[in-house]
Amino acid sequence: MAQHWTDSLASWAIPQPILDAATRDPWMLPVARFAGRADRAVADPAGVSFERAADVLRDDPGSVLDVGAGAGAASLPLAPWATSLTAVDGQAAMLEAFAERASTVGVVHHEVQGTWPAVAGEVAAHDVAVVHHVVYNVADIVPFLAALDAKVRRRVVLELPPHHPLSWMSPLWKQFHGLERPVSPIAGDLVEILGAMDVADLRAEYWTHVDPAAADGSDGETLDERAAMVAQRLCLPVEREPDVAHALGDVAPGYHRDVVTVSWTPGSLRG
Ligand SMILES: C[S@@+](CC[C@H](N)C(=O)[O-])C[C@H]1O[C@@H](n2cnc3c(N)ncnc32)[C@H](O)[C@@H]1O
Repeated sequence: MAQHWTDSLASWAIPQPILDAATRDPWMLPVARFAGRADRAVADPAGVSFERAADVLRDDPGSVLDVGAGAGAASLPLAPWATSLTAVDGQAAMLEAFAERASTVGVVHHEVQGTWPAVAGEVAAHDVAVVHHVVYNVADIVPFLAALDAKVRRRVVLELPPHHPLSWMSPLWKQFHGLERPVSPIAGDLVEILGAMDVADLRAEYWTHVDPAAADGSDGETLDERAAMVAQRLCLPVEREPDVAHALGDVAPGYHRDVVTVSWTPGSLRG
């Protein structure tokens, strides 16, 4: 099952001839987009993933580890009950956006730049871990999950979409490149992997995230801004952005809407 996860993620690779013709990075993660997500999450903390982590901390505050933190959308809403927040991310610009927001909220915070689990040795034990919208980036998933289990005392809370976050773009790949995109892995695969690892008190909750700024699928962006980002993801040049804007009208955007909260009580893997 873990090998299926790895192989399925590898099948999302963009064919080399398309990559060779691209002038911009199709895999970029725009900091402004994740900063906006974090600001909206702080302004209106809600959702099953937030509740699962807050449930653990409300009566007994503790430290929170945010892996793949971005600008902190998963952890900053927990600040009222957190003794500290630690953000781990590979991108320095994301950590800067996180640190700025954590200081504004007024919570003790630490940043660790690097890839989980490679930097796990630099991170102290924490009470709760939140890991939102990260695991579809992680090919070697078992060591990633095992390191969370090893570093966390009370609860690990993962959030991910039921399908790969770029699945909604598959019709556009077909339209602009004649390319079929994969359909796996899916969230159920992750749940099976955790089940096989025999983690304790495993829960998977499927729900729909209601984000008013994203209710029209725009995530607060104009159609032109979305078209620019999507054209870049599709390895298309700037001149094709109007075509992408036109095509976007026919494709229902799907990211950050249907989500799955996967949580477990860590410790059972430590023996
Ligand atoms: C899609 S963003 C999600 C950010 C944030 N958790 C949120 O929900 O808004 C994924 C983030 O995870 C980071 N990331 C991906 N894989 C990682 C890894 N193995 N270790 C640390 N950071 C990782 C990326 O740099 C990026 O900032």
